[in-house]
Amino acid sequence: MPLEIYNHPRYYDVGFGWDPSTELDFLEACFRKYSMLHVRRVLELGCGTGRLLIGLANRGYEAVGVEVNHHMIDFALAKSRQTETRLGIVEADMAEFTLDEKVDAAFCAIDTFRYLLTEDAALNHFRCVGSVLRPNGVYVIDFTMVGSPNSYPKDPEEWTIDREGIRVTVMHKIVGKPDLMNRRTLEHTSLTAVEEGITEKFEAKDLMRTYTEDEFESLLKSVGLFNVVAWHGPNFQIDQPVTPTPETERIIAILKRV
Ligand SMILES: C[S@@+](CC[C@H](N)C(=O)[O-])C[C@H]1O[C@@H](n2cnc3c(N)ncnc32)[C@H](O)[C@@H]1O
Repeated sequence: MPLEIYNHPRYYDVGFGWDPSTELDFLEACFRKYSMLHVRRVLELGCGTGRLLIGLANRGYEAVGVEVNHHMIDFALAKSRQTETRLGIVEADMAEFTLDEKVDAAFCAIDTFRYLLTEDAALNHFRCVGSVLRPNGVYVIDFTMVGSPNSYPKDPEEWTIDREGIRVTVMHKIVGKPDLMNRRTLEHTSLTAVEEGITEKFEAKDLMRTYTEDEFESLLKSVGLFNVVAWHGPNFQIDQPVTPTPETERIIAILKRV
């Protein structure tokens, strides 16, 4: 059932519907701090239901997304029409896409980058982003590092969000130990939705690629289009850059297009 939960965008949008303002503030702060460009047009890779992209459009940016799942795209576009925001979404794999017009900044949120399972897919992804991002533009990637058999998020995460009469509980955990030889984790996610007294549960077991800092940097070196200019932690504090260690889990890489 790969990526099954993304076939249910209405429930995804509630379950992942926390207040995005901290993430949006952080993205804008990255544009100001790390880019020498006046950022006007922004691209999100794997934009889903437009959780962040619609927020950026509301803040005055021209918002463009690349997304592979048409259920997510239809939902994001309907939501943007309701809120009278404008989104442009290209239905494509983020390892194989192009845009008609270049962007000033790009970002990829909550581990979406790790869905690219092979070295080739990850290389192609950076080549695609590199081909549409202006020189000196930043690419912000929020992902989880898995560096050793023992350094990975072990505890299941679970939370519940209520919105407009729908209650969605999201559970996520890494199943077993990471397979570092093949650079894979198996990740189990479930969405349990309760609406008008009826409960529905959607589950997915997805493979995701693992990265250490060295693996990530050597991938970028092979592409030759980006430099890492900073790392930040998942507290989204722009004035607190961090240095990855072998124990680092979730991290945000700030890349700059050369
Ligand atoms: C964890 S969700 C994140 C959605 C959104 N960025 C957010 O922050 O809520 C991952 C999204 O990436 C999409 N996705 C996964 N693999 C993809 C690929 N290879 N190309 C484009 N989109 C992809 C999924 O369909 C899903 O909408």
